[in-house]
Amino acid sequence: MEKIPPEMRESVVTVDSPPESAQEVVERLQTTEPATRPELESALFEPPEQAVFALRDLSLWYGQKQAIGDVTMKCPVNRVTALIGPSGCGKSTLLRCLNRMNDLIPGVRIQGTVEYHSQDIYARDVDPVEVRRRIGMVFQKPNPFPKTIYENVAFGARVNGIKGKMDDLVERSLRQAALWDEVKDDLKKSGLALSGGQQQRLCIARALAVQPDVILMDEPCSALDPIATLKIEDLIRELVSQYTIIIVTHNMQQAARVSDYTAFMLAQEHGLMGRLIEYGPTTEMFTNPGDRRTEDYITGRFG
Ligand SMILES: Nc1ncnc2c1ncn2[C@@H]1O[C@H](COP(=O)(O)OP(=O)(O)OP(=O)(O)O)[C@@H](O)[C@H]1O
Ligand SMILES: [Mg+2]
Repeated sequence: MEKIPPEMRESVVTVDSPPESAQEVVERLQTTEPATRPELESALFEPPEQAVFALRDLSLWYGQKQAIGDVTMKCPVNRVTALIGPSGCGKSTLLRCLNRMNDLIPGVRIQGTVEYHSQDIYARDVDPVEVRRRIGMVFQKPNPFPKTIYENVAFGARVNGIKGKMDDLVERSLRQAALWDEVKDDLKKSGLALSGGQQQRLCIARALAVQPDVILMDEPCSALDPIATLKIEDLIRELVSQYTIIIVTHNMQQAARVSDYTAFMLAQEHGLMGRLIEYGPTTEMFTNPGDRRTEDYITGRFG
């Protein structure tokens, strides 16, 4: 990862100063006065492409506890947007806001708006089931149904009323998920008999079979070995020509490899809620971050 030369940035630590410990960095971040925080300014980046999602002042509470605060950002069509930040900063919560998965958690309260193609997905007349069909999700741990490979792909499509020849749909989805060649002779075998990486691609095929527009991925490679991870990353780059992808990842190299845009979040304000600190094109975020805290995070000083 390219380091920013000290002369280019006033706020950068000089090479001679002793490195801060992770604890010191976290304490400094938590005690910085709001007035000196540039996050709102640096977070106001707008991608030039058409927006699939427009979030405005989005906040979420689990009961009394606020998990995300005032997030405003747009996610562009046919691009990979990565959400990064330390554990507990609200990445998964934010991701789940995008397809109303948080509705399923009791005691959740949401403020602000999430527009999907200019439509407020939390509006009263919107059917959350239809939202989740168009905005699919792939989870951290591959979770195939205890059914055959074929049924794993066909089941959701049938439930969602997808018409057409099921054999063709299953083949097309498995091909799109780069799994067809490995399973075409074993479609009647259990999905659970596949390797972890294959199971994750099966889950991607299952998500694709309902013909979504967006795929949300919450750390889709964290349970996979490096080779299976690279396969999923290649697949993400292929899929993005047809889909919009939002991915949560803890792996900085992965964010740098697969995403076009990166959003950095931090749970601050004394550990209370996740804020968007900086958002921008991935190459810029990784080579010349605008905020000291982004730099601290991506260079591994905390998190
Ligand atoms: N179902 C829930 N009920 C109550 N609090 C929750 C729930 N899910 C998450 N939280 C809290 O909300 C905050 C944000 O959690 P979230 O899972 O979104 O973080 P994250 O950035 O995805 O973390 P990680 O990197 O560890 O997955 C945390 O403080 C967490 O404890
Ligand atoms: Mg998470």
